[in-house]
Amino acid sequence: MAVQISPSILSADFARLADEARAVEEAADWLHVDVMDNHFVPNLTLGLPVVQALLKHAVLPVDCHLMIEDPDRHAPAYAEAGAGNVTIHAEAVKAPVRTLRAIRAVGARSGLAFNPGTAIEPYADLLGEVDMVLLMTVEPGFGGQKFLDLVLPKIRRTRAMLTARRASGSAASPGERGRDVWVQVDGGVSDETIERCAEAGADVFVAGSAVYGATDPAAAIDALRAAAIEAQARRT
Ligand code: DX5
Ligand code: ZN
Repeated sequence: MAVQISPSILSADFARLADEARAVEEAADWLHVDVMDNHFVPNLTLGLPVVQALLKHAVLPVDCHLMIEDPDRHAPAYAEAGAGNVTIHAEAVKAPVRTLRAIRAVGARSGLAFNPGTAIEPYADLLGEVDMVLLMTVEPGFGGQKFLDLVLPKIRRTRAMLTARRASGSAASPGERGRDVWVQVDGGVSDETIERCAEAGADVFVAGSAVYGATDPAAAIDALRAAAIEAQARRT
């Protein structure tokens, strides 16, 4: 469970996206891009053309978080464009197996996201189709919101499900045994809250305002990473 940091450009300067991506490229593992359609969430950000443009400049792999209706129709194009990871929301997807497979078919990692009020247990059978579970720690739509502690038990349950699954190789596909599914948290992640997330079992941390609101974004990432590594060590 290596700690990975995925700064969210939602809190960056949208008029200078290439520069903002460069500011974190030495320190971060991913570049988190929040796609919002004003329907699934009450906010509108950017879409495929901007992601395609950013991909030409970004050195880091792009982590697309699609907060959109009808991801079945739109998500595969983000993978085809070259995103390293494409995450769709459990609340929006109609044909998750087909869509998650379409994302993976072109070589991207697949992610399945859950709002704070959505339980993961009904989706247990889908875990073989995903490379990452994203547990929202705020209601999606905006940066700078307060971290929701009520998600911590779900992080623990998710990590336990994945550990049990990994140990037993219980999934349908033979390649499942030993496969590492990442647990990402997104929303209100800061130096105040990252330790709780890491202790509960998260290993990929999205941070928007905590990184781009800092005077030195790279130093903020280093500090978040150090805190998460320390907290992760306390888990066992
Ligand atoms: C919110 C987005 C997040 C957002 C996080 O819906 O999915 O990625 O940028 O911002 P902070 O870290 O400021 O809560
Ligand atoms: Zn996000």
